[in-house]
Amino acid sequence: MAADPILALSNVTKRFGGLTVSDQVSFAVPRGARMALIGPNGAGKTTLFNLMSGVYPLDGGEIVLDGARIDTLPSRKRIAMGLSRSFQNIRLMPHLSVVENVMLGQHAQASGIGDLLTPISWMRGGRWRRLAVERLEAAGIAVHPDADVASLPYGVRKKIEVVRALMSKPRLLMLDEPAAGLNPRETAELSAFLKDVAATGVTLLVVEHDMSFVHDLCEHTVVLNFGKLIYEGPTRAVQDDEAVREAYLGSRRVETAGGSHAA
Ligand SMILES: Nc1ncnc2c1ncn2[C@@H]1O[C@H](COP(=O)(O)OP(=O)(O)OP(=O)(O)O)[C@@H](O)[C@H]1O
Ligand SMILES: [Mg+2]
Repeated sequence: MAADPILALSNVTKRFGGLTVSDQVSFAVPRGARMALIGPNGAGKTTLFNLMSGVYPLDGGEIVLDGARIDTLPSRKRIAMGLSRSFQNIRLMPHLSVVENVMLGQHAQASGIGDLLTPISWMRGGRWRRLAVERLEAAGIAVHPDADVASLPYGVRKKIEVVRALMSKPRLLMLDEPAAGLNPRETAELSAFLKDVAATGVTLLVVEHDMSFVHDLCEHTVVLNFGKLIYEGPTRAVQDDEAVREAYLGSRRVETAGGSHAA
């Protein structure tokens, strides 16, 4: 376990009815790491993100961010403390422009109730907009800030989601299947983009099924199966692990750095 983790889960447990979807899960995310969270459909990956970000209360265990316990805090406090996430199914607002969508990510930085109550239309020329435009440019997203977000290619929208999640200046960014639905070129671009994000000091925790993306981006991996942690270690060794092969990778066609093969 990392000596100075940015995030540490201890015995995190969640039940829905009779189903234990998170079963005493313990692991740590090393500071500055690019870490993957993988596992079969229904393993409990999104649920774990929901527990970390405060969508659901825990039934047991604790979550510590940068030394402070966060599992009883409301979501907005966790965001203000440096945790940010994207969602499995894209959650950009289709009726807002690119820049307005990005500006929504700044709510955690609002300096007071006045900022929060200010309609987006009043802020069009303001500092939030300028900052959002700057971040879009820095991310190399070459679209007009006022473009209709719904008209953009899927790969661009996925990147905009990441930029929005970065507006709260997270120390830990959690992404739920960021490469889903992307073509190989878009996937490679997203991976390069996320490496640049990580190089600025942001720790990444990424849920993803695309194993070639995971191998390219993440040096550490944890694996969940039926709500239980079954592997924690280097990504390069994950496919050699007997329990992981049995639960997940063994039954899939797996893309590896050396090419694709039926594992
Ligand atoms: N709000 C809920 N109420 C009841 N059951 C839920 C709820 N959310 C998730 N579950 C159940 O918890 C289990 C884990 O679901 P979860 O969405 O966390 O899996 P996942 O690992 O993200 O899967 P996928 O790879 O398909 O996204 C599933 O059996 C799911 O049906
Ligand atoms: Mg999921």
